[in-house]
Amino acid sequence: MSKQFDVIVIGGGPGGYIAAIRAAQLGFNTACIDEWKNGKGGPAPGGTCTNVGCIPSKALLQSSEHFEHANKHFAEHGITASDVKMDVAKMLARKDGVVKQNNDGILYLFKKNKVSFFHGRGSFVKAAEGGYEIKVAGAAEETLVGKHIIVATGSNARQLPGVPFDEETVLSNDGALRVGAVPKKLALIGSGVIGLEMGSVWRRLGADVTILEGLPTFLGAVDEQIAKEAKKAFDKQGLKVELGVKVGEVAKTKAGVSIDYTDAKGEAKKLEADKLIVSIGRVPNTVGLNAEAVGLKLDDRGAIVVDDECKTSLPNVWAVGDVVRGPMLAHKAEEEGVAVAERIAGQHGHVNFNTIPWVIYTSPEIAWVGRTEQQLKADGVKYKAGTFPFLANGRARALGDTTGMVKFLADATTDEILGVHIVGPMASELISEAVVAMEFKASAEDIARICHAHPSLSEATKEAALAVDKRTLNF
Ligand code: FAD
Ligand code: NAI
Repeated sequence: MSKQFDVIVIGGGPGGYIAAIRAAQLGFNTACIDEWKNGKGGPAPGGTCTNVGCIPSKALLQSSEHFEHANKHFAEHGITASDVKMDVAKMLARKDGVVKQNNDGILYLFKKNKVSFFHGRGSFVKAAEGGYEIKVAGAAEETLVGKHIIVATGSNARQLPGVPFDEETVLSNDGALRVGAVPKKLALIGSGVIGLEMGSVWRRLGADVTILEGLPTFLGAVDEQIAKEAKKAFDKQGLKVELGVKVGEVAKTKAGVSIDYTDAKGEAKKLEADKLIVSIGRVPNTVGLNAEAVGLKLDDRGAIVVDDECKTSLPNVWAVGDVVRGPMLAHKAEEEGVAVAERIAGQHGHVNFNTIPWVIYTSPEIAWVGRTEQQLKADGVKYKAGTFPFLANGRARALGDTTGMVKFLADATTDEILGVHIVGPMASELISEAVVAMEFKASAEDIARICHAHPSLSEATKEAALAVDKRTLNF
């Protein structure tokens, strides 16, 4: 006898588990199916984000930053820390512990919200009376029927054609997060978000890191002025990024890996390294979903086709997160999950794609929301810009981290904030104020007139807003 649910969510990453919780909160009898296994074969909900993405990467960024501080910055504070060593195994164990806390947290939240959790692979069987029949294959085989189905099956790392991941020498994000010893030489292909974050982790721990990037511009999606400032900081740290390269043959060698490539000038080069991280983007994952059985439409990238409301080609089948169009970000997936649950309940779920923040958790951090200066120019929008450097911010000086700036872009006529771009300390936290401001359609003057605590990094945000009107107070 199949179990009947109002809502079945396939995938327990940030898109799926949040959709399940919201659906349950709204009174639906809800199931969530997720196949991720922990080291012991048990359930590990949370998806890419929790297991091999956002959370473990930030844990390693934190550990490696402590190491770098102890080695390079404690002395300025009068602290002697000689013979500082990194126990990589302990660092990785801590990271695994942080991941487990998050896995357990989600299982607790399912219980608290009365979401029925099934550990295994969910796949479509057929359209059935009362909705869709879904098979769960895993520890226990089950057949479920759901009136509404939310697909949240996420994404996988894109591999270089002909160079499969072995997670020993050629690493995806998964292997990159569990390298057992600091490699002497580390190569990365792709200087996007993962390339810069993982490159930073292993550089801080002592690896000689080179990132090969296909595009001629560094962080092309980031505001140019901000990207330039970030590049200067990374250069200073010794994180080598070669732009405009064309990667050729990648071969495993006795010592590791060798990568043939042509540099921006067209010169043939070879890079030898102990390990290679391939971070060239991610592909939507529908493996094992059996989408064909019900005729669920995919696009030519393999993403599930959805409209603005995350409705798929089938009635009462929805899809959210990395498996659909849009930025591959955990908070975007979560917003879509909440919005879909609310739409199923007849409410007006809403996701504002114009105010989704981006953060790159390097040091300095890079964060932004809204349009860049180059986008405003391309769109023919008349704008005013204001910047404020952390060098002139008291809290940043006290922290000993004055790299970077806050930049505001506002409409030349109405003063409405069109974009805020930050490179510098705690940019990940500072960007929230800009997101709130843009959601409320605030003007730069609104932020300039709000009292910000002193001394705080957020004063740089206020000052950048003042700079739009050319009236900074501290610069
Ligand atoms: P996923 O998190 O991929 O979850 C999908 C889940 O579905 C998985 O558990 C999978 O096992 C399961 N599944 C798939 N198919 C089935 C099936 N048929 N049956 C049952 N279960 C199935 N984003 C940020 O916003 N901030 C960050 O700092 C950040 N850092 C990242 C760092 C790295 C190294 C990586 C790789 C990604 C990072 N991301 C970050 C991106 C973020 O992880 C994704 O955008 C997010 O996880 C997408 O959520 P999702 O729910 O759509 O999919
Ligand atoms: P990415 O899209 O951020 O960067 C990929 C980079 O690889 C690009 O610069 C691209 O030009 C380059 N590239 C592609 N093919 C190439 C080739 N053949 N040779 C050389 N360079 C090539 O993708 P990444 O870093 O793999 O991350 C995937 C996604 O995961 C991100 O887009 C983001 O959505 C998410 N993520 C988010 C994080 C965050 O929010 N802090 C952290 C890490 C990942």
